[in-house]
Amino acid sequence: MRRSASVFRALLVFTAIVETQWPGVSGIYCKDMASGVYRPHSVTITEFGAVGDGVALNTKAFQNAIFYLNSFADKGGAQLFVPAGRWLTGSFSLISHLTLSLDKDAVIIGSPDSSNWPVIDPLPSYGRGRELPGERHQSLIFGYNLTDVIITGANGTIDGQGAVWWDWFHNHTLNYTRPHLVELMYSTNVVISNLTFKNSPFWNIHPVYCSQVLVEHLTILAPLDSPNTDGINPDSSTNICIKHCYVRNGDDVIVIKSGWDEYGISFAHPSSNISITNITGETRGGAGIAIGSEMSGGISEVRAERLRIVNSLHGIRIKTAPGRGGYVRNVYIADVSMHNVSMAIRITGNYGEHPDNNYDRNALPMISNITIENVVGINVGIAGILEGIEGDNFSSICISNVSLSVQSMHPWNCSLIQGYSNSVIPESCDQLRTDCGQTPVCYNGGSPSAVRAQAPMHKPSTSSLLNSLLKLSSL
Ligand SMILES: *[C@@H]1O[C@H](CO)[C@@H](O)[C@H](O)[C@H]1NC(C)=O
Ligand SMILES: *[C@@H]1O[C@H](CO)[C@@H](O)[C@H](O)[C@H]1NC(C)=O
Ligand SMILES: *[C@@H]1O[C@H](CO)[C@@H](O)[C@H](O)[C@H]1NC(C)=O
Ligand SMILES: *[C@@H]1O[C@H](CO)[C@@H](O)[C@H](O)[C@H]1NC(C)=O
Ligand SMILES: *[C@@H]1O[C@H](CO)[C@@H](O)[C@H](O)[C@H]1NC(C)=O
Ligand SMILES: *[C@@H]1O[C@H](CO)[C@@H](O)[C@H](O)[C@H]1NC(C)=O
Ligand SMILES: *[C@@H]1O[C@H](CO)[C@@H](O)[C@H](O)[C@H]1NC(C)=O
Ligand SMILES: *[C@@H]1O[C@H](CO)[C@@H](O)[C@H](O)[C@H]1NC(C)=O
Ligand SMILES: *[C@@H]1O[C@H](CO)[C@@H](O)[C@H](O)[C@H]1NC(C)=O
Ligand SMILES: *[C@@H]1O[C@H](CO)[C@@H](O)[C@H](O)[C@H]1NC(C)=O
Ligand SMILES: *[C@@H]1O[C@H](CO)[C@@H](O)[C@H](O)[C@H]1NC(C)=O
Ligand SMILES: *[C@@H]1O[C@H](CO)[C@@H](O)[C@H](O)[C@H]1NC(C)=O
Repeated sequence: MRRSASVFRALLVFTAIVETQWPGVSGIYCKDMASGVYRPHSVTITEFGAVGDGVALNTKAFQNAIFYLNSFADKGGAQLFVPAGRWLTGSFSLISHLTLSLDKDAVIIGSPDSSNWPVIDPLPSYGRGRELPGERHQSLIFGYNLTDVIITGANGTIDGQGAVWWDWFHNHTLNYTRPHLVELMYSTNVVISNLTFKNSPFWNIHPVYCSQVLVEHLTILAPLDSPNTDGINPDSSTNICIKHCYVRNGDDVIVIKSGWDEYGISFAHPSSNISITNITGETRGGAGIAIGSEMSGGISEVRAERLRIVNSLHGIRIKTAPGRGGYVRNVYIADVSMHNVSMAIRITGNYGEHPDNNYDRNALPMISNITIENVVGINVGIAGILEGIEGDNFSSICISNVSLSVQSMHPWNCSLIQGYSNSVIPESCDQLRTDCGQTPVCYNGGSPSAVRAQAPMHKPSTSSLLNSLLKLSSL
């Protein structure tokens, strides 16, 4: 008892250190991305007849304004400004070379009438709507084939009024899969910044088949018990940077995807070069950072750092299943603090959920090169449940410098995985122990600053970390 109490105190000190000393690293895959562009032309939504009383439906005004601004696309692009007010609208589509800019007290409100959310084809990499077969509702703000698009505001709000959609979901009266707040397909050079997203019917931000996307300074809020209100979902997309966001919602805070079973395998659009930095998340039903379960096009080169995950079901999670095919590799997750998290790290090989019965049961996902390091957790239920697939071991799972105050008597439960661990408290499972003398190679995030992860690992020697913790606690 005494020992665990002092470790607990030590962890508190540790957390304080972690929170104050993280350096300001910027997304490594977004070096050349500008967060703003000057637009020589600007119009205000009221010039197109919009009324910001929360009652009038403004879909036509948004469509007309954007149609008008199309004529400036080759003249440096244009801005559509949304002033203070409550602007009710159905789904509308953006164009290239456009900035949609919200004022501080501007609120774009999604119509509670589902007929204002048109129905569109399913994504080719999913073969059907995610929750119902067939088509799906188009997102509130939609884009297709775009380049040079900015959605921003002085922390203005986009509120999906999702409650009615959650009811339809719960009482099984949806006809099609629920819409997202923002979905951009086949688009490049996109910035989504400085906004608050609220009450999405389904996922919040969904870039799919996109590249060069910067998402920063967002607040994303949905009730903790709202169904599938994922925060930010990069999907079959490359060079994506997500920074400085606060998310409190009902499902995964950030989740990387790349298509579903046979549809994702044949469409073959991977997600890669994903950088995630400085995220605070709270989710009752999901994970702080997740990969999958749809990962059939492959997911690689993921770097997530400075994550703070509180009051959540899962901290870090990878989900997959036989039938998915594809791969998840070269994932580096570091500098994570968790407080009140039921399961700190979870890898699930039998997630299930298939689009139909035509998936190939022999299409096994390849999961390898997953490194998780520098994690502190307080009041964690279980440290890790790490399960691979029979006949398909997940390999090079590396966990180092992880210190969790855990309640469970069985903190780790591993099967069908192989890898290495170093300085893990509580001591990790046998599957993650390394023979002295071997020189295992763990993925290091592709950066010299993380090179220590590549050093040979030894049998877990937790005593030194414990000692330094105890020393700290006596300060
Ligand atoms: C998207 O771009 C492709 C290739 O440039 C073109 O063939 C297609 O018609 C475009 N689709 C739409 C909806 O703009
Ligand atoms: C933005 O607004 C949300 C509430 O709508 C608030 O919680 C958050 O702190 C604000 N962010 C900034 C940077 O002002
Ligand atoms: C389902 O929920 C919707 C939205 O709240 C409501 O209008 C409808 O009456 C409900 N239907 C049933 C069968 O409960
Ligand atoms: C489903 O379709 C029926 C029949 O067209 C319609 O009355 C109902 O409003 C639709 N439900 C939703 C949630 O859109
Ligand atoms: C967004 O907010 C951040 C932090 O407040 C600020 O540094 C940045 O300039 C803002 N970006 C835009 C495009 O206004
Ligand atoms: C980290 O993100 C939060 C928003 O969650 C923001 O307030 C803070 O300024 C960011 N920190 C840095 C160093 O940019
Ligand atoms: C990923 O990033 C690396 C280096 O930052 C770059 O060389 C590579 O082309 C990128 N991959 C894709 C698919 O854009
Ligand atoms: C963790 O849970 C405790 C007890 O419910 C609560 O006091 C504390 O604020 C929670 N931590 C965070 C970061 O919310
Ligand atoms: C271990 O992790 C903690 C917390 O993230 C960090 O402060 C410390 O520098 C790490 N130690 C090493 C040797 O990397
Ligand atoms: C570990 O997980 C397996 C299922 O994968 C379960 O059968 C077993 O009871 C668990 N062991 C412990 C000690 O929790
Ligand atoms: C799979 O991993 C387990 C440890 O989790 C190990 O005992 C077994 O030998 C491995 N199987 C193969 C085929 O490598
Ligand atoms: C795993 O990571 C190591 C070290 O970075 C690298 O040499 C190896 O090629 C990676 N394996 C795969 C399958 O990408």
